[in-house]
This record gives sequence, structure tokens and C-alpha cells, in this order.
Amino acid sequence: MTSYSIALIPGDGVGRDVTDAAWQVLSTVARHSGFTLNGTPFPWSCAFYKETGAMMPPDGIETLRRFDAILLGAVGWPAEVPDSVSLHGLLLPIRKAFVQYANIRPHRLLPGVRGPLRAENFDILCIRENTEGEYSGAGGRVHQGTTDEVAVETSIFTRTGVERILRFGFEQARARRGKLASVTKSNAQKYSMVFWDEITHKLAAEYPDVDVASYHIDAMAARMVMAPESLDVVVASNLFGDILTDLGAAIQGGLGFAASANINPDRSAPSMFEPVHGSAPDIAHLGIANPIAAIWSGAMMLEHLGEKNAAQTIIGALEKTTARGIGTVPGKDRTETIAAAVLAALD
Ligand code: IPM
Ligand code: MN
Repeated sequence: MTSYSIALIPGDGVGRDVTDAAWQVLSTVARHSGFTLNGTPFPWSCAFYKETGAMMPPDGIETLRRFDAILLGAVGWPAEVPDSVSLHGLLLPIRKAFVQYANIRPHRLLPGVRGPLRAENFDILCIRENTEGEYSGAGGRVHQGTTDEVAVETSIFTRTGVERILRFGFEQARARRGKLASVTKSNAQKYSMVFWDEITHKLAAEYPDVDVASYHIDAMAARMVMAPESLDVVVASNLFGDILTDLGAAIQGGLGFAASANINPDRSAPSMFEPVHGSAPDIAHLGIANPIAAIWSGAMMLEHLGEKNAAQTIIGALEKTTARGIGTVPGKDRTETIAAAVLAALD
């Protein structure tokens, strides 16, 4: 029987509840589908940092490298550990070390979920560059604490990095409705973003079947609200993609529905799957976090592992659950109620 080894990092806050729920659903689907998921939990989190002084052990990356995939809940507990420390100690190094350069985030309304827009029939796949750009980590501070203090943080765009994410976007567009929107701010940022636009233009010649258009980030923000049905695949740099995907989460009814996959398309290292919502400290102890984003991320994991039918079964169960009005309104249903409804909808 095929068996997959999965590293489980529930992390902080609601990350623990939603990872539990997702794992129940994933294990059940695996059992029904004739494959095994072998989960190994890791306690890496802000609590782990408080105990050990690090978000993960020094060999954490090497430990994770042996797994087929990583399922992550959330990282961050700002009351105890600054976000700039926790994220740079766990989530961001994993994305970079494992060259998970494509962060994929689907934005559509599940049946029965009411978004804030009149539009209901949008189906957007945001693809965010996930290893460089504005998140390159290049920079520094000098003359700290004085009036002469300077802070520099440099975006880095490499030809390799830009070309591979755009190519990934073109391929996704080709497999979907054939439309690609490439997002920059090349009217103001004349080096990196013009570079990105040029590469978009160059690759377009290789994909004559894809209808490609370039947008500025500000115009794209407006378009996602005013005309989301006009969009198919949207590809953007790391920070721009980060911002647009919270907007995408909002129009799909909230962060409780926003799933994501950090993909290493070359499969030279494990990919990582996580809901977009984060640790949500305000509701962390209430048992009301929506597990749908985590479960949907788990389905994306199965899809990546090649278990397409099992992934589709989970998406179908999510759709049946929300169509019954369960998990559709923030805070109405408990995490365990929603998870139980999804489990029941599997068969
Ligand atoms: C996300 C999150 C992270 C990001 C934070 C927590 C560093 O907002 O996955 O969207 O900006 O990538
Ligand atoms: Mn974000």
C-alpha cells in the first residue's frame, strides 16, 4: 500500500485546532482510498521558543527534508515572541530552504457562503512568488537608536526567480481557463517591476494559447473587488501576492476559507500546506476556529502527492458541508462541529 510521510507542525494558537481537524479528515480519506498517511508531529512553535530559545532545532530543516510533505497550522504568538522572530525562525526559512517558490491560493465561494460582494461566480487562483522579492531578507540597520538611524530592506528579483514563477503561472493558466494576470507596479518601480513585465512579455510568446495581461497592483486590488469574475490565474511578487491573497480571502467570505500550498514544483524538497489565517490569538482558546481552510489545504496536499481522487473527495465534502450552512458564518459553529460534518460528508 502506498504510504506518505507527513510532518505535522500545528504551531501556535488556532493552528493546533485546525491541524487536528484537517488530520482527522485526511486520515479518514486515506483509509477509504487505500493509502496511508504517516504523521509525525513536531512541537515547533512560540512555546517551543520559550523553552529552547529557538523556533525549531538547528537541524530542523534537515529533519523535515526527509518527509513527503509538511502540514502546518500557524506560526506566531506576538504577545510572547515578536512576529519578526517567530516567522523568521520557522515558516519563512522552510519556504526558502525547500525552494517552495510557488505559493498557490484559491479564492472562490464555497456553496452557501456569502461573501461581501454581489459577485458570486468568481474562481481565482493567486500564485505568489514565495522565496525572494520583497521577502528576500536583504538589508540592515545602522546607527541604531540615534537620529541618524538608517533602515534598508532591499527587494531582490532574479531572472531565475521571476521566470520560474511566471512559467508556473502560465502552466496553471493553461490547465484552467487560459487567462493569466501578471501583477506589478512598473509605473513607479522602474527596475524590478519593469524587469518582471519584460519577462512576462517574453514568456507570453511561448504560450500563445494563454491570454495574458499585465496589471498594476493598485488596479488589481480594485479589480478583485469590482470584477473578480474577469480573473483566472493571478501571479504576483511575494509581498504583492501576500496582500492580494488577504483580499482574496475577504471576498471568499473570510480567512476561514483561505487555503494555501507552498509548492516546490521540481519536487527536490517537500512542499508545505497551510491555511492562510495564522494563529488568530483573539479566538485561540474558544474552539471556534473554522477548520475549512486547513482541510482545504490538506486536500491540496493530497493533490500534490498525486492522490487526486482523494483530494476531490475532500473538496466535495467541504462543499456539501457549507451547502448545509455549516461553517459558513464566522464563529457560529464550533471547530469540532464543522470537522464532524465534513467527516460525515465524506461518504
Ligand atoms: C501569509 C502570512 C505570512 C506571509 C506572514 C505570517 C509572514 O501573512 O502566509 O500570508 O506574509 O507570508
Ligand atoms: Mn499573508
